Amino acid sequence: TKGKLLILPGDGIGIEVMREVRRVIDWLSKKRGIDFAIEEALVGGSSIDAYGKPITDETMKIALEADAVLLGAVGGPKWDNLPFEVKPERGLLRLRKDLGLFANLRPAMCFDALVEASTLKPDVVRGLDIMIVRELTGGVYFGTPRGIETLPDGSRRGVNTQVYTTEEIRRVARVAFDIATKRNNKVTSSEKANVMESGILWREEVTHIHDTEFPKVELSHMYADNCAMQLVRNPKQFDVIVTDNLFGDILSDCAAMLTGSLGMLPSASLGAADANGKRKAMYEPVHGSAPDIAGKDLANPIATILSFAMALRYSFDLGEEAALIEKAVENVLAGGLRTGDIMQPGMAKVSTGVMGESIVRALDKL
Ligand code: NAI
Ligand code: MG
Repeated sequence: TKGKLLILPGDGIGIEVMREVRRVIDWLSKKRGIDFAIEEALVGGSSIDAYGKPITDETMKIALEADAVLLGAVGGPKWDNLPFEVKPERGLLRLRKDLGLFANLRPAMCFDALVEASTLKPDVVRGLDIMIVRELTGGVYFGTPRGIETLPDGSRRGVNTQVYTTEEIRRVARVAFDIATKRNNKVTSSEKANVMESGILWREEVTHIHDTEFPKVELSHMYADNCAMQLVRNPKQFDVIVTDNLFGDILSDCAAMLTGSLGMLPSASLGAADANGKRKAMYEPVHGSAPDIAGKDLANPIATILSFAMALRYSFDLGEEAALIEKAVENVLAGGLRTGDIMQPGMAKVSTGVMGESIVRALDKL
């Protein structure tokens, strides 16, 4: 087989969209002879219901041994009032932490058929395909000291600290350059070196990794505020953007909205490379478990199918198959099929199941 894949459907629409990924996996096996050693397990609320915790040690062990983890979504009203330690989200946090996932990849692609649905002018987004690499485990969200202090005069102040070490910057820079070599060899690094010490270090270290390890990749630097502006003004000037946790949080959400619905957005989180260059990895749609539409066969499975395509490209070295899946999605959209979240006038509204089936039929025709 091509390697070990752990599937964690999770809760709500996570379960429904993962069924459609299974169709794509079956297609790869039947039509292309590509097989994975697949395990499936519970995470989030469904694991709480079965085992009393959001992820079991046994599932965690399988995740650590897998080449890739594919996750649907976790959470829902049924588990909202549990204490934080046993909430569904804790399952996700443990996966991210124990797998050491420090680089979050958020692509923003605009499918031709959805150009008209963008909030921007069609010419600005047509053909858009950029990748934001966000540092995920450092920076101001985790830096110490932190807290709310009461001052002698009785007023209070909230404190957070932005901290980055050379190693934290270097390892995420390597991920970004590595990905750039599989795309268009172009990286924009974004920080605010004009006002932040951590930004100065960020710029120096990214430049160092570039000069010593990836000199053939084109590197430029851009202040994060300008980057936000440029993303909306002319996003196609970018290919890979690498940035810290805080700026990445904002820039990736900004980039996501260039292309429309939550139901279309995949993501990947990567960890350190082992001796063979293999990274721990988890792939998941950006959206949550959507309790408002769960169980109704209404969810858009494309974000999760595209997340699986990312797994093929980044964990299994099957870039060609990943591109086929993306092409099949494009063709189905071009044929006028839409789930409710991406519905446009004159298009045909279809269920989760019909969307998945149609993508497999489109794969057959490629
Ligand atoms: P959400 O992403 O689940 O839903 C937001 C809105 O987008 C809803 O109206 C939903 O129907 C729609 N939507 C989302 N994905 C869709 C899809 N594939 N197709 C069609 N429509 C889609 O975010 P929300 O409502 O804030 O959270 C719901 C639950 O999901 C909560 O329990 C939250 O904690 C959890 N959540 C889990 C995440 C994860 O597992 N990574 C991420 C975000 C939220
Ligand atoms: Mg965010």
